[in-house]
Amino acid sequence: MAEHKPWDGRFAEKTDDMVEAFTSSIQVDKRLYAHDITGSIAHARTLAEAGVIDSDEADAMEKGLRQVKGEIEAGNFKYDDSLEDIHMHIESRLTEILGPTAAKLHTGRSRNDQIALDNRLYLRDETRQIVAMLHELRQAIVDSAQAHLDYFVPGYTHLQRAQPVLLSHHLMAYYEMFTRDSDRFTDALYRINVMPLGSAALAGTTFPLDREYTASLLGFEGVTQNSMDAVSDRDFIMEFLSDASICMVHLSRMSEELVLWSSSEFAFLNMPDAFATGSSIMPQKKNPDVPELVRGKTGRVVGSLMAILTTMKSLPMAYNRDMQEDKPPLFDAVDTLKACVAMFARMVPKLEFNRRNMFDASNQGFLNATDMADYLVEKGVPFREAHGIVGRAVAYALDRGRELHEISLNDLRKFSDKLEKDLYEALTVEHVVERRRTIGGTASVNVIAAIGRAQTQLQAETSGD
Ligand code: ARG
Repeated sequence: MAEHKPWDGRFAEKTDDMVEAFTSSIQVDKRLYAHDITGSIAHARTLAEAGVIDSDEADAMEKGLRQVKGEIEAGNFKYDDSLEDIHMHIESRLTEILGPTAAKLHTGRSRNDQIALDNRLYLRDETRQIVAMLHELRQAIVDSAQAHLDYFVPGYTHLQRAQPVLLSHHLMAYYEMFTRDSDRFTDALYRINVMPLGSAALAGTTFPLDREYTASLLGFEGVTQNSMDAVSDRDFIMEFLSDASICMVHLSRMSEELVLWSSSEFAFLNMPDAFATGSSIMPQKKNPDVPELVRGKTGRVVGSLMAILTTMKSLPMAYNRDMQEDKPPLFDAVDTLKACVAMFARMVPKLEFNRRNMFDASNQGFLNATDMADYLVEKGVPFREAHGIVGRAVAYALDRGRELHEISLNDLRKFSDKLEKDLYEALTVEHVVERRRTIGGTASVNVIAAIGRAQTQLQAETSGD
């Protein structure tokens, strides 16, 4: 146990053991060690630059801090609840190494602005990694869309077959979602990447610290503009967790489709063995556990968002210890999201779609009924009237257990004499898809162009354009 705490000057009594364990956050925040050390080195440089310490002292601090980092990474650093958090652990070890010089490091700084800084440095790294991982996933989706251009699949509304689409079009819908997610994370970086150090406890510091200098050392875009806000702002975490939740919802929706599609009822998809698991009792089973788990983990990430919103909702300014509770949900959400995105990027290229079953399903269930109505509109029938005509034809076909395109022209003409032989071509799956050429529609010309744009976009992102 540490002999005494950095803050115990005014304390006459030793902290209760249970209080010590209860208030300690070290088991959670120790993962911020590298960011904490990076921040402390920048703070030492800023103190020297302001003439508060000499540059020799800053050099010694930097060397000592690097040594502490080495010790943590080598796994021979001792953690102790009595030192509460990662900030005090590092400072205390630095004091052992350096002696009195270490005692100057916390000049003009508080753990309140220190943790705000660590959180931001950490989340900046993680957010950049997540954007890179989403890039991989988006690439996998586009490549799969490119490889399956001749696959048709029923499009659904209300989970009822509606109109056929290209499988690639369906896949590219997820490309759009994950691209928006990526944009949201990139945008969040504008608010994450702001430097809070120099705000000290809440009111700023008496030392002439050049905050812009600290920001430049740490690669921040700018500095926070209000010291009270700087130490109590957790919006960037809420925003990140909102973005993470939305991204997980997208992964979860895709998961749900993969689960459905791999069922015998749909049989559109064969989950490769390497991505499925078996049952301990039912020998025939192959379960899509990966998408199921991604769907399940979505609840955890959404829960993390709720946790931080609820923690923050009634906090007066400025720092309150409640805020220490920001880290468990944040870390858990970051880990969960990264694991899910990585899993999907690995699984998507391996998905085996069943072309025949998807096509057959696209050809059954009156997915061309709208096209028959559109055909009549082209022959001058108002759409509402055409809708009624086709509706009656559908009822007639249903009675006979047939599809519209399986009814003879003679019989169909009972519903409208505008129907001609060329109707049958208009009713084929290929035609139904190819005629939807409005921007964003499923016609192959559009889908091929969308894939091309996506490939160019992904390429530009890699080359840093
Ligand atoms: N461990 C604290 C946190 O995570 C660091 C700041 C503590 N500040 C304080 N005055 N107790 O929020």
